[in-house]
Amino acid sequence: MKKFMHGSRFLPKNYSDEAEEKLQQFKKQGIKLPMKNLIRTEEQLRGIRESAAINTALLDFLSEQIHEGMPTSEIDHLVYAFTTDHGAIPADFLYEGYPRCVCTSINEVVCHGIPSPHEILKSGDIVNVDVSTIYKGYYSDASRMFMIGEVSPEVRRLVEVTRECRDLGIQAAQPWARLGDIGAAIQAHAEKNGYSVVREFCGHGCGVKFHEEPDVEHVGRKGSGMLLVPGMTFTIEPMINMGRKEIFIDEEDGWTVCTDDGLPSAQWESQILITETGNEIITQ
Ligand code: MF3
Ligand code: CO
Repeated sequence: MKKFMHGSRFLPKNYSDEAEEKLQQFKKQGIKLPMKNLIRTEEQLRGIRESAAINTALLDFLSEQIHEGMPTSEIDHLVYAFTTDHGAIPADFLYEGYPRCVCTSINEVVCHGIPSPHEILKSGDIVNVDVSTIYKGYYSDASRMFMIGEVSPEVRRLVEVTRECRDLGIQAAQPWARLGDIGAAIQAHAEKNGYSVVREFCGHGCGVKFHEEPDVEHVGRKGSGMLLVPGMTFTIEPMINMGRKEIFIDEEDGWTVCTDDGLPSAQWESQILITETGNEIITQ
């Protein structure tokens, strides 16, 4: 007889009895577990992966198109055309009233930069392009940095270290580890390099909704926070500032997030799945 009867199990049937047993042990210790609905079923994973494939193909396509002299509104047009051509919807569009299909955040813009025909990519710029896709109701999310023309070594290093921060966050995201392990790994690497971590924006559960639980903070304490359980899908998307961590939101458009000190900021975002043996990178 199976140890865990259907219905008394926390994990859906695509997970092993060993995983279920492990989870019950942590539960007994009083460690905070994710809500059951954050553990993806096989069917949900199929949909999320399909969505992610489009999102990744879109970023690959954009990486070939982005060039010096391009207005960021053109990136927006490409995102709209590519996504709808693949039978999908740009998740950003009208999300909480956001007016475009993609966020394009240049230099001191931390995130949520709004594409504009008046904003032209120039040599020396770094730009984060953040795209999110809805396909058959499933969500995917990722962002990459692009360096335009000649970028100074200092700024290049910020971009590289930020990518390392994201990757160290992913490495820390292991089954039965804790949410705080991710933030701790990211924060340590950023601060060791003399940079600061933006606190106001987090990674997030993503898959069945655009932004769902948990908040994935990019600072933290090892061994603290929610248990990481196989079947969770969430993003890790550190925003790392060259200077101070403080930010402000543009009052005029209500969206654009900028560094207080005007120094550049970088961000890389991946969506991952916690598996029974480690994790799987769903988008990057
Ligand atoms: N794609 C962003 C994220 O990584 C969210 C953008 S919301 C928008 O979570 F409304 F600004 F598009
Ligand atoms: Co995100």
